[in-house]
Amino acid sequence: MRQSESFFEILLFSASQGEYEIMQNGNHASIQAIFQEKFGRQAILMIRACGRINLIGEHTDYNDGYVLPAAIDKHLYFAIAENGTSTCRFWAEDIKEAGEADLKNLIKGNQLWLNYLRGILQEFQLDGKDIRGVDVAFGGDLPIGAGVSSSAALECGFGWALNQLFNAGYSKSDIALVAHHSSNHFMGIPSGIMDQFASIMGRANHFILLDCRSLEHRYIPADLGDYQIVLLNSRVHHELASSAYSERVAECRAGVAILQKYYTDIKSLRDVDVSMLEKHQNEMNPTVFRRCKYVVNEHDRTLQACKYLQNGEMQALGQLLFKTHEGLRNDYEVSCAEIDFLVDFAKDFNGVAGARVMGGGFGGCTINLVKDDLVNDFVEKAKLAYYQRFGIDLEHLKVNISDGTDILL
Ligand code: GLA
Repeated sequence: MRQSESFFEILLFSASQGEYEIMQNGNHASIQAIFQEKFGRQAILMIRACGRINLIGEHTDYNDGYVLPAAIDKHLYFAIAENGTSTCRFWAEDIKEAGEADLKNLIKGNQLWLNYLRGILQEFQLDGKDIRGVDVAFGGDLPIGAGVSSSAALECGFGWALNQLFNAGYSKSDIALVAHHSSNHFMGIPSGIMDQFASIMGRANHFILLDCRSLEHRYIPADLGDYQIVLLNSRVHHELASSAYSERVAECRAGVAILQKYYTDIKSLRDVDVSMLEKHQNEMNPTVFRRCKYVVNEHDRTLQACKYLQNGEMQALGQLLFKTHEGLRNDYEVSCAEIDFLVDFAKDFNGVAGARVMGGGFGGCTINLVKDDLVNDFVEKAKLAYYQRFGIDLEHLKVNISDGTDILL
C-alpha cells in the first residue's frame, strides 16, 4: 500500500485510473443512532468536522507560503464516549467497517483510515495527555477522494473530540498542528498545514488568509458580488497523485538547497523571488526550476487575489485562478486531461470569471467563479460536454462556506 495514499482513495479507487463512487449520506442524527446500535449506549459527545475548499494558494503551504482556504458545509460527524478500557473501538459508517486501536501499542495496520486515527492518539500521548479508551462511530456527507480534504476532517474531528472528552487543553489551532504533525510523522505524508487548519478554524462566509509559516491568519469576507463558487467533481483520481505529491515537495526543497549556497537566510521558497531563481537557473534541473517558479509566482498571486477579493474585483480575481491553473498544468504538472477539459470549458463559457484545479491535483474538483444567474446553465452544459468526452457523470458539489469543526452535543 502506498504510504501517502489517502484512505478514501484506496477505499473507492481500485484501478490505476478511473471513476469512483461517492457513497456517504450520514447526518448528525443517523451517526448518533448508529453509535447506539453498535455500542449499546448513547454517545456523550457529538462533533461535526468539515471539508475545505481553497480559493487560491495551491502547493504553497509546504513552502511556508500563503493559502486562502475555507471550511465548507460538507461534514463528518463523530459520536463518541469513553469505554473504560485501554482500547479505542471505531465504526466507520460510510464504509461499514470496524477497527480498534490499542492505546498501549499504537502501530500502523492495514486499515489506512484507522491509521489516521491512531496517529492522532499517538500525538496526544507524545504530548503527555492522559487519554483512555473510547468508542467512536463516524460518517457523513463529505465527498471522498474529491479534493475537499476528508482526511483532515477525520483527523481534526477526532482530535477535537478527544480534546473535549479528556479536557486536554488544546485550542483549535493546536489541534490543526497535532493533526498536521500526525500526518507528517505517523502517516509519513509530507503535506502542509492548509487542510487541517481550514477544516477546524473555518468561519462562516469567510476565507482564511493563512501564513503557513507563522500561522498568522486573517478572515476575509467571502463577498463574491454576483458570482458563486461552483465545485465540479471530475470523479477521477489518478494513481500518480500520492507519489507525485512527495516528488513536488522534494523538488521544491532541491531548489531551495541550491539557492541556500548563495543566500544563507533562505529557509524555504517563501523567501525566494523570481529574480533569484532566474539568476541561478542554469544550476538547476529544468524541472526543479519550473516547480520553484510556479510556487514563487503563486505566493504573489495569493496575496494579490486577496486584494481583488476585498475590492470586489471578481474578473481580476478570476484571471488569477486561470493563471494558477496554467502554472499547475504546465510548470507544476499536477493536472490531468479531465481537469484540463473542465477548466478549458469554463474559460470558454461566458459568465465564468475563473477556474482551476483545486487541492493536490490529478483529479478531484475544479473550483469555478460563476455568475449567479448562469450557474445552472454552466453546470448543465459542463455535465453534457464532460459526459460526451469522457463518459463520466460530472458532479456539481453545492457548498457553503461554514464554521469549522464544532461540538454538537
Ligand atoms: C493537499 C495537501 C495540502 C496542500 C494541497 C495543495 O491537499 O494536503 O497540504 O499541499 O494538497 O495545495
